[in-house]
Amino acid sequence: MPRSRIVILTGAGISAESGVATFRDPDGVWAKFNLEDVATPEGFARDPAKVQDFYNMRRRQMDSVEPNLAHAALARLEREIRGDILLVTQNIDDLHERAGSRNLIHMHGELGRVLCQDCGGSSPWAGDIAVHSGCPACGAKGRLRPDVVWFGEMPYRMEEIGEALTRCDLFVAIGTSGNVYPAAGFVEEARAAGALTIELNLKCAGWGSRFDDQMEGPATQVVPAFVERILSATS
Ligand code: APR
Repeated sequence: MPRSRIVILTGAGISAESGVATFRDPDGVWAKFNLEDVATPEGFARDPAKVQDFYNMRRRQMDSVEPNLAHAALARLEREIRGDILLVTQNIDDLHERAGSRNLIHMHGELGRVLCQDCGGSSPWAGDIAVHSGCPACGAKGRLRPDVVWFGEMPYRMEEIGEALTRCDLFVAIGTSGNVYPAAGFVEEARAAGALTIELNLKCAGWGSRFDDQMEGPATQVVPAFVERILSATS
């Protein structure tokens, strides 16, 4: 059996059953907050305290949510698959790592890290960021922002992701609406490499037609079933 080379892309839908709001569902984050105000460099320049509060509120929520069966199933897949698996998440929560995933890229950054606008250093950060908080790396005060990729900014580690997509034989998108590029273009890159492309989503609408196959249902049900199917097919 040849070694599998799998790339998995996750979005907010995989964390929804852990109690973390998605963005574009009717009760989602962008129904409550104006993304121009809290998820763009211009919004941060206009009102840094408002942006810090937005991410402080989301960072505090991380203490009260747990990884769910879908996160656990992906960690199991990484442990047991005969092959390579790269997990690329658009999510800024830490639920994949807490479930045990290791080969993981947070392409949109992480709630648990801060970026210093003086030294450019990224450091782990728990608790609230105040407007005058000091950088753990260089000590500069009032120069910290959440280490989160905002609209109009370049996601992280795109070269590594592009490399993995050109080599993969299976690409799986889980719990993402495919609204935001460059993540929304990964399925085409994988297909161009000859990979099988599969979407797992609560409702496979919208961008679903761009996939070879789809599994519909809550992530905590379809992801463990999918992982079981992959592991039995490759063992
Ligand atoms: N199980 C599986 N999928 C689910 C579930 C669930 N329980 N609940 C919701 N979903 C799906 C929705 O059907 C939708 O397709 O999750 C997806 C959530 O879509 P979005 O809210 O657009 O989130 P996402 O695709 O991750 O957004 C991408 O946009 O705002 C930016 O930076 C932000 O990383 C985010 C990016």
